[in-house]
Amino acid sequence: MNTELVKISVTDGEQKYIKAADYLKGGQVVGMPTETVYGLAGNAYSPDAVKRIFEAKGRPQDNPLIVHISEFSQLYELVSEVPDKAKKLADEFWPGPLTMILPKSDKVPLCVTAGLDTVAVRCPSHPVARRLIEISGMPLAAPSANLSGKPSPTKAEHVFEDLNGRIPMIIDGGECDEGVESTVITLATPVPKLLRPGNVTLSQLKSVLGDVQVDNAVLNPLKADEKVSSPGMKYKHYSPEAEIILVRGSYESFKNYVNGFSGENIYAMVFDNEGEGLSVLSIKYGKEDYKNLAHSLFDSLRELDKKGAQKCFVRYPDENNDDNLAVLNRLLRAAGFKVIDV
Ligand code: TXA
Ligand code: MG
Repeated sequence: MNTELVKISVTDGEQKYIKAADYLKGGQVVGMPTETVYGLAGNAYSPDAVKRIFEAKGRPQDNPLIVHISEFSQLYELVSEVPDKAKKLADEFWPGPLTMILPKSDKVPLCVTAGLDTVAVRCPSHPVARRLIEISGMPLAAPSANLSGKPSPTKAEHVFEDLNGRIPMIIDGGECDEGVESTVITLATPVPKLLRPGNVTLSQLKSVLGDVQVDNAVLNPLKADEKVSSPGMKYKHYSPEAEIILVRGSYESFKNYVNGFSGENIYAMVFDNEGEGLSVLSIKYGKEDYKNLAHSLFDSLRELDKKGAQKCFVRYPDENNDDNLAVLNRLLRAAGFKVIDV
């Protein structure tokens, strides 16, 4: 199959979306930009389309998808009940990078939720994603548009790298603003629980909901017998080919440690104002400021593969800053929880 790349900008009219909408109406899947990362979209009500999503990504069958809507009112047909907490969260954070998990309605096929009785729903703010949902006239099931296990795509070219020949179309809407996937919170538990941190932060959630628990798997590896709240947490994630090792400590100590290594396939990933005095090659992953790090994290991880890196030592973001939770969560998974204290 040939994969067509189509540029669509915010100012483009409906005409530009017709081919993509036709693919979606026909049960096909399309790469689409969102403000977080690119998604691989298909009709959430079509088991055929959902099957294609799983196949194109090579996604494990037990990992459920997020359903994307363009209006809050569409939530009513996807879930069995809309609690006050959901209304409050939507008032504050939708459209935007927040996914809510709620008991599903009968309309949502079990293949979307991987057999669970809950469904994940998000209303993205990206204007191209919103228009696509409106024009195609259906809620869109969409996981991140990477091959399963790879870093999530933040540019159309990343989607092309992973899915060229496997899907008919990718909409290029430019680079994603946020760069990490949405915050996932479940409202299907007595106390709301954060399952995946994102740019809607824990303190923002608490300011609306009061009590919010944090799932153990956010910052810790799963124990062998531990029950998962979110199937996505089981899998190795966000991994470039290179071995990622997090190094916790000051830049001076980081430098001393890393300079004990040499070789052209060994890299260091450092903050923007660093890199001096290192004996290995370095790539930058942003200012030590959470949104900035999130923005370029996955792109930097993909860069490592392009450079043929075999090992990469990564600066550890400030863990006492709650806002760093999203980046820390992704890095810990990319590193398989390998952290060295220096
Ligand atoms: O920002 C995002 O959320 C992006 C864009 C495309 O919207 N999408 C995304 O989807 O990251 P995906 O499939 O890569 O991640 C969805 C996560 C997975 O960890 C999955 O296990 C979890 O949400 N999830 C989905 N439905 C769930 C449910 N019913 N219960 C618990 N976890 C669920
Ligand atoms: Mg994903």
